[in-house]
Amino acid sequence: MASPTHQLSTRELEALSSKAITAKDTAYCPYSKFRVGACVLTQSGEYFLGANVENASYPVGTCAERVAFGNAVVAGHRDFKAIAVATDIKPAASPCGMCRQFMSEFTSPSFPVFMYDGEGNHTLTTMGKLLPHSFGPGDFTH
Ligand code: THU
Repeated sequence: MASPTHQLSTRELEALSSKAITAKDTAYCPYSKFRVGACVLTQSGEYFLGANVENASYPVGTCAERVAFGNAVVAGHRDFKAIAVATDIKPAASPCGMCRQFMSEFTSPSFPVFMYDGEGNHTLTTMGKLLPHSFGPGDFTH
């Protein structure tokens, strides 16, 4: 099967990865102790960060990916180029199911998702691979 490709320049990918990895430092994860950092790159070239924010009522916590996308969306962005997600484990973790649905709202099947392990190595996948047959905004008939 063909490997996913992406349109990012070397400079963009370096910035995206270093910001996602650094964002792990901002995680609030006293319960799981599992740090996740994320960085989303907008089509206009801006980077927005996220990290997981947990809660004493466990299900209330939110993931890094949704924080990053939420930050970008409330700053007025709707069009995105790529996301990087970083954890401390190896192999790299991939976005949870809730985050896949959340991200699919703003992305196409070819949208690149870079997943970084604790050593800074990445795996590249796409939204289409992470969430095939997705339900999205185009499925509404009003
Ligand atoms: N987590 C994320 O931030 N992103 C994911 O895609 C997977 C899980 C967080 C949620 C929780 O704070 C911790 O990792 C352990 O599940």
